[in-house]
Amino acid sequence: MAAIWSRGGLQGILEPMKTIIEPFRIKSVEPIHLTTREERESKLREAAYNVFLLRSEDVLIDLLTDSGTSAMSSNQWAAIMRGDESYAGSPSFYRFETAIQDIFGFKYVFPTHQGRAAERILFSVRCKPGDVVPSNTHFDTTRANIEHTGARAVDLLIPEGREPQTIHPFKGNMDVTALERLIADVGRDRIPLCMLTVTNNSGGGQPVSMANVRAVSTICRRHGIPLYIDAARYAENAYFIKLREPGYASRSPIEIAREMFSLADGATMSAKKDGMANIGGFIASNDKEVAQQERNLLILTEGFPTYGGLAGRDLEAIAVGLYEALAEDYLLYRITSTTYLGRHISEHGVPIVQPPGGHAIYIDAAAMLPHIPPLALPGQALVVELYREAGIRAVEIGTVMFGRRDPVSGAETPASMELVRLAIPRRVYTQSHVDYVVEAILNVHARRHEIRGYRFSEQAPALRHFTARFEALE
Ligand code: F0G
Repeated sequence: MAAIWSRGGLQGILEPMKTIIEPFRIKSVEPIHLTTREERESKLREAAYNVFLLRSEDVLIDLLTDSGTSAMSSNQWAAIMRGDESYAGSPSFYRFETAIQDIFGFKYVFPTHQGRAAERILFSVRCKPGDVVPSNTHFDTTRANIEHTGARAVDLLIPEGREPQTIHPFKGNMDVTALERLIADVGRDRIPLCMLTVTNNSGGGQPVSMANVRAVSTICRRHGIPLYIDAARYAENAYFIKLREPGYASRSPIEIAREMFSLADGATMSAKKDGMANIGGFIASNDKEVAQQERNLLILTEGFPTYGGLAGRDLEAIAVGLYEALAEDYLLYRITSTTYLGRHISEHGVPIVQPPGGHAIYIDAAAMLPHIPPLALPGQALVVELYREAGIRAVEIGTVMFGRRDPVSGAETPASMELVRLAIPRRVYTQSHVDYVVEAILNVHARRHEIRGYRFSEQAPALRHFTARFEALE
């Protein structure tokens, strides 16, 4: 923690204190439910060992996702009351649009019901069969939406990003040499756009440096390829740049965010993350012609351009939340608390993706459970065990999510990493909840040799992790 506390603009205020405090007080509470181990065992059986199939009221600490699970602030709730539900021209839209133009700097802004709707519209307009879309790492819905158009999604992460134990300040960076090579290999004409996911969710919640955004932007501009940023966790990425990149320590997160987006031609965003909202997203760019096509598709599938599938009140919550996510006291607490969880488990031998990311800690299940081979799903086994132990729900990001099953032979290809993500909802859990999670993980770690693998008993052809059913291996 010391490294984080000792840097940045809040140094003078917070450095003497070591205790992490939530920079808010609690105004409304929601009970969570304790269950017995026997109850959890039976819930697991009913859910066929897929925690997506559990009822959330049977979960004590829900770290399945940080998406749409944020606690909203009193200012957001106040803004919600101001929400104007007019079908066309609502002032709530104009507040939403103004906030996005102010922070992201793009001219054309369309609300969508969530991030993947923005992705679908963007790729439907820009991609055709045979195209190739590079990224540092595409999130799963991004990849699926690209592939749905017949284009190919390619991940060009730096090699350090694929090595869980390697320490690097910006493990989310794109390999720019690989990008140049890809452009030379497939030709500029088959690359309708390039993406950067900040922070890099699937690659461990790791940040992308400003230098890397700039390098990717320079290459893209030289070849006339539009660069889009997947901005789901843009505020956390901006804060990592402030903490770790020379020259940014005295810059505010909003200034850093503006610089980052000035290097891009557009953005998609799931506002369910750093928008601090429970639903929503947007697509933004400066391209008039593309915007016109996006508007037409938006009207067809999402709604009129001044609401785009959201209620006016949602637009208000996002307009306020986008700024709250950039507040330094909030970001300091957020990153410090996530780091605390990572440090406390790794100090006791639990292998995690190093260094800790912004929104989540990723346990390296392949390293923790080396006796379970990838095709026996070590990540899934650990996810099941965390629920069984303490009612904690995490998510597997490994072979269940990213492995491939040959539709003809049924042969499985494992993913490149077997991770378990503990995603931290924003402003929801307190430090004592974090301590409870630490204790539970260490208990599971202590009896890791007893943990067995799993196999699929049912799976869907795409995005199988949501609905798959599993059986425990003997
Ligand atoms: N991009 C990134 C980087 C994401 O993490 C997500 C969602 C999306 C796009 C899609 O946005 O859910 O609003 O449609 N990530 C969630 C998660 C689901 O749990 O990480 P959406």
